[in-house]
This record gives sequence, structure tokens and C-alpha cells, in this order.
Amino acid sequence: AKVRHYKWEVEYMYGSPDCIENVVMGINGQFPGPTIRAQAGDTIDVALTNKLSTEGVVIHWHGIRQKETPWADGTASISQCAINPGETFRYRFKVDKPGTYFYHGHYGMQRSAGLYGSLIVEVEDGKREPFHYDGEFDLLLSDWWHQSSHHQEVSLSSKPFRWIGEPQSLLINGRGQFNCSLSSSSTLPKCRFRGNEPCAPQILHVLPNKTYRLRIASSTALASLNLAIQNHTMLVVEADGNYVKPFAVQDIDIYSGESYSVLVTTDQDPSRNYWIAIGIRGRNATTPQALTILNYHPTSASHLPPSPPPVTPLWNDFQRSQSFAQKLYALMGTPAPPATFHRRLVLLNTQNLINGFTKWAINNVSLTLPSTPYLGSIKYKLQNAFDPKSPPESFTAEYDVMKPPVNPNSVTGSGVYMFEMNQVVDVILQNANVLKGRSSEIHPWHLHGHDFWVLGYGEGKFDAKRDEKKLNTKNPVMKNTAVIFPYGWTALRFVADNPGVWAFHCHIEPHLHMGMGVIFAEGVDQVNSIPSEAITCGLTGKMLATTNTTV
Ligand code: C2O
Ligand code: CU
Repeated sequence: AKVRHYKWEVEYMYGSPDCIENVVMGINGQFPGPTIRAQAGDTIDVALTNKLSTEGVVIHWHGIRQKETPWADGTASISQCAINPGETFRYRFKVDKPGTYFYHGHYGMQRSAGLYGSLIVEVEDGKREPFHYDGEFDLLLSDWWHQSSHHQEVSLSSKPFRWIGEPQSLLINGRGQFNCSLSSSSTLPKCRFRGNEPCAPQILHVLPNKTYRLRIASSTALASLNLAIQNHTMLVVEADGNYVKPFAVQDIDIYSGESYSVLVTTDQDPSRNYWIAIGIRGRNATTPQALTILNYHPTSASHLPPSPPPVTPLWNDFQRSQSFAQKLYALMGTPAPPATFHRRLVLLNTQNLINGFTKWAINNVSLTLPSTPYLGSIKYKLQNAFDPKSPPESFTAEYDVMKPPVNPNSVTGSGVYMFEMNQVVDVILQNANVLKGRSSEIHPWHLHGHDFWVLGYGEGKFDAKRDEKKLNTKNPVMKNTAVIFPYGWTALRFVADNPGVWAFHCHIEPHLHMGMGVIFAEGVDQVNSIPSEAITCGLTGKMLATTNTTV
């Protein structure tokens, strides 16, 4: 195993992600940030310097469990203090499990501003993946707005609330095409696929009769995506860094925070090229598809495919979305979950009002992060750092999830769900109707520091008596992100076996910003040697300044 050293500088810079010039967040002058490639067992060591002139920054390593390094999880106010302008923070952590991951900003809405990149962990030398492939492509998907993330933040925090709307463009590895047309008869500008313009998509050059692994990760701020490759079937083999029982599909759904590996065999007519199309599902968006080309050797990459790109399945065919989610099972040999749980949280997701501000709340509490990172304040038992009361474990039995909330008001809070070490925790994520009108949205929930087993999905309100026996405890898939469907529930199980403080939240950035998350903690007393740079702010900063204790 190796230690891989990186020196990164984060800054705002000009870029043209979708051919329109804008300001993006870059790392070492690149957008998206550099790809990290490592082998399982390696240590990643990133010295991250904040070159932004007026705001803090942190980077979260999405999907990496941070065993024994909870301070390197990169969550502002949770695992560390935001890194101040001009300062450098060293992220040093082990990547213990092969898989497809990514990293992204976790402060304010910096993910929306373009702070993200790929993190690929290969199997260690001498070990093999449980499948074969000849070549690999990494596709990091995102969505892009022309309005700045600062502007978006202000809109979301205004009274009355202003929604940010749908993205202008979808990006593949940071490249997209704003408002262009494939047809020559249109008055819109032609899309650019030749590969020499900076915003032209990365073309996938393949040889006939080979198998390729596509590693696909979604870092979108909002969009739920669907990816299809014209004339080609995909075999899904990995989800969120866990092997799955392979299954074949014509297209895959991918929600923000998820990653998949699919195998594609290039067994089609090599005298032409094929579209790869990514479109939005789950929301009624008019954002055009992101397109790129699967280019068969020896056909020229400049030959556009002779037929139109695959059409994205209907945005509101949730039956179809559910049936995709339910095709995921763990590959044989994956650890099965403990047969029973010790503690069950039933978390109701609602849209609410707080003093007229529109928020999201969990069991009527909308998350606001404290100024002192939890990891330090819990470890050093500091008073008044966050709400001492544990947040509610469930919601009232009378709540009708199919209707707008009767009492639309909720409260803000910063309380923590504390778990005993090695407690088996079940979480039932319960969806509900939004504030106004009759609808319910999709929310992909992501857990830091752990993988969980996805025990099942259901419609309407979870009813333990009726639904418990339908849960799959035999071969459920392990993931770190799972979606709740409109008006539905999703049941998860995990073992609280990783000392630290961990966010569990909706991966839709504006939703998280509006309070859609909770904080979990376990075994913090066992966390030793938190680097002082991680906690030199708020009350822990004061503590460090007034004592000489080595921490
Ligand atoms: Cu990728 Cu807390 O998020
Ligand atoms: Cu959400």
C-alpha cells in the first residue's frame, strides 16, 4: 500500500462548463478537480489550500468511511472547522474498499459551484474484481446553473422563498452544451461534438468486441438522472463501492450521491457511432439531455450517430424508478445485515415554514449547523455547543403523509442522535406531501462514515406490523445513498461501528441547505488525536487557546 500525496489549491476561476463563460470552483486550475486514483489500502494525503479570498472551504470524500480518521470527513461544522482563506488543511485517510467514489465541497453550496472530482479505488495488487473488463471510462455527472451558488443561496433563504429552478445544463466530466440542437433545420446553434472545443464532450473511444467498465457517479445538486447507451445493454456490477448481483438493463437511474459501475460489451456494428444520453427524471424539467458519443474503432469520431439519441424515460414514471431500485441485490459473499435491530428511527421528511421561511424538516426539526464542529464539542464535552436534547425518534401516528401538513410550522435544531458503539440501527425514511398542493418529491439520502443495507421500499406510511416482515434481511444491497420515492418509505439498517460524528442527509444540495439532514454520533470518546487544525474555531478554538492540553 502506498501513501499518495497531493497539493491542491481551491479557487474561483473562469470556465465554460456548458460553452457559456461563467465562474466555477477549480482545483489547481482544473474543473472538475483532479481525479484521484488509488488502490485499496492506500493512504490519500491531500494538503488543501484555500485560495478563495472571502470564504471558507472543506472537501468531503463521498463514500469513504474514514475509519479512525473522522476528522478527515470534510464536513464543515460537523467534522472540522471550515478552512480559512490562505490556510492549508491536511486530509489524510485510508481508502479501504475498492469502488467508484467522488469528492465534493461540503460547505455552503460549494458543490453547486463546481467543487467536485472523481475518486477511484482499484483492487489491491494480487486481488481481482469479480468481473472482467478490457478498458474503463469514468463519468462524473453534474448539473449546472448559470446563476451563481451565492445567488441561489440568497434565493433559498429569502422570505418569501424563491426556488432556484431547474439546471440550465447537465455535465459529463464537467462538460455540457447549453441550448444547442442536433438538427440542421433548427435556429439554435449546433451542438459541438468534434472534441476540440473545451466544452465538447469527452468521446468514449472503443474497440469492437471488448468489454468496458463505465464508472458513473452523480454529484448533481438537484437532478435525478437516467443514462442510456444507444443499442447497448449495460450490466450493473457495482453500486456505491459495493459489488451487486449483476443485472442487465437498457438504461440506469442514478440519483445525486450514488455511483455505479456498468459493463458494456462493444458488440454492435462498428461502422457507426452511438449516442450516450443522460436526461433528468423525477422532476418535470426541460433541461436538455447531456450527450456524448461511443466511438467504435475505426469509424471516425466525427461521424454523428445516424439515429437520434435514446429518449429518457418519462420523468414521473415512478413505478419504473422503483423497479430499477428493486433490481439491486448484494453479490453473493457480501456480509448480510444483523437479523434484528437495537434501535429504530422513523424519520419523517416534511417541507415546513419557520417564521415564514421555507425549510425542510425531519420529525419537525430543520437542521441548522452549530459554529463549533460536533466532533470537537462532543469529544471535549463542551456545554452549549449544540442542542443537548436528542431529536425525536419518530413522528405522531396521526400524521397523514398523503396530505399537506396540517400544522405547517416546525423548528430549527442542532441536536444529535447518539448511538451506543456497535448498536444496530434501523432508519425508516418516510416521505410525505409537500407544503402546498398535492405532490411529493424524490430525496436521495446519504450517510457519512458507513454503508447501510437497503432493506426495502414501500408506498404510503410505514406500518411496522404489516411492512416489517417484507423487509429483505437475506441479501440486501449495501449502499451509502438511497432514495425515498414520492409518498413512500425506505428502510435502512447499519451498524454504528465507526467512532465519529456523521451527517445523514438528503444529497440534493438546496434541500440540505434548507435543513434536510440529521446528525449521528457514536463512540466519540474513542476518537483520539483530533488534529488541532480541525477544531480551531468556535468553542473548541477557545478551549485550545486557553489550555495547553495536547489533543
Ligand atoms: Cu456527498 Cu454529505 O455528502
Ligand atoms: Cu431532498
